[in-house]
Amino acid sequence: MSILDAIKQFEMMPDHYKGLSMKEMERRVAAIKEKFGSRLFIPGHHYQKDEVIQFADQTGDSLQLAQMAEKNKDAEYIVFCGVHFMAETADMLTGTDQTVILPDMRAGCSMADMADMQQTNRAWEKLQHIFGDTIIPLTYVNSTAEIKAFVGKHGGATVTSSNAKKVLEWAFTQKKRILFLPDQHLGRNTAYELGIPLEDMAVWDPIQDQLENEAEHNDIKVILWKGHCSVHEKFTVKNINDLRERDSDIRIIVHPECSHEVVMQSDDSGSTKYIIDTVSRAQPGSKWAIGTEMNLVQRLIQEYPDKQIESLNPDMCPCLTMNRIDLPHLLWSLEQIEKGEPAGVIKVPKVIQDDALLALNRMLSIT
Ligand code: 13P
Ligand code: SF4
Repeated sequence: MSILDAIKQFEMMPDHYKGLSMKEMERRVAAIKEKFGSRLFIPGHHYQKDEVIQFADQTGDSLQLAQMAEKNKDAEYIVFCGVHFMAETADMLTGTDQTVILPDMRAGCSMADMADMQQTNRAWEKLQHIFGDTIIPLTYVNSTAEIKAFVGKHGGATVTSSNAKKVLEWAFTQKKRILFLPDQHLGRNTAYELGIPLEDMAVWDPIQDQLENEAEHNDIKVILWKGHCSVHEKFTVKNINDLRERDSDIRIIVHPECSHEVVMQSDDSGSTKYIIDTVSRAQPGSKWAIGTEMNLVQRLIQEYPDKQIESLNPDMCPCLTMNRIDLPHLLWSLEQIEKGEPAGVIKVPKVIQDDALLALNRMLSIT
């Protein structure tokens, strides 16, 4: 289901929550957490706001959050502080007696919405016609459950930014070519890291329904879906050059959703977990410019005052949809649970779930 369809079907938070003081909301959230104990589990992605993260039982990157969901068999309610595709993944990996809730249905992911089923079916048909049965599909977890199901049904797997390399290596043991949905940048950066030259990658344009590159078809090893993250595309080579001109000692670390040029010009790249681990291990006094979402960069700035940390883009890049989850929405969703009327329940239909789980479980077993 696209995020627009999801929004139409679900109840929204009543306005009076916006008028509550932070203190009052914090008090009420803490009281509900206390009351529910282990019946309630709140996972939080690293891009969430501090006002929400303070109540997360566990934080993580996309892979860790999926692994946590798979392991947690106790919680009756999982209030997912992240975006829609993450909550769908959690729903599929948890038991039928567990309820996954997204506090604001508008918390989608523009990248996930860049690949829909009609486009994907059309692309697959055309690509099969061009390349025959030589392609395995992979999808970044930042995709709808339907796309994951398509990938699972065709023998492929999901990937996250922390295991993309391993999953691509596995995929090449299965087929000669990969169709990588929906983030061209993660696909390109990972394939390049595995030694595949850019000339052997082609871009599939789902709007024009065609391959963009004119490369010899026989040489193409990776077909990249023309999708991107609007947050990470805002980090540019100019940002890097400006920083290096200002300070030649600064180390630049970016997320692999950034463009290939930006990743190449940076000192290091990796998932949100990798960025956190790298910066936390760095020497006091070291200087870092980080190319990822602003809530995470700001949290690192606060947590490591002994290091000089800044955003690679001085105009900081927020993920507007991640930021939809705020304290009023968290409180509202918890109070709805307390009333016995949970709102924002994420339920992936079984027919989609069965195939999507094939893709998710392949990833989890490779990782
Ligand atoms: P990771 O947390 O897996 O690095 O993903 C970043 C992201 O953009 C999630 O939407
Ligand atoms: Fe989607 Fe990008 Fe936001 Fe992640 S940061 S949720 S990929 S729009």
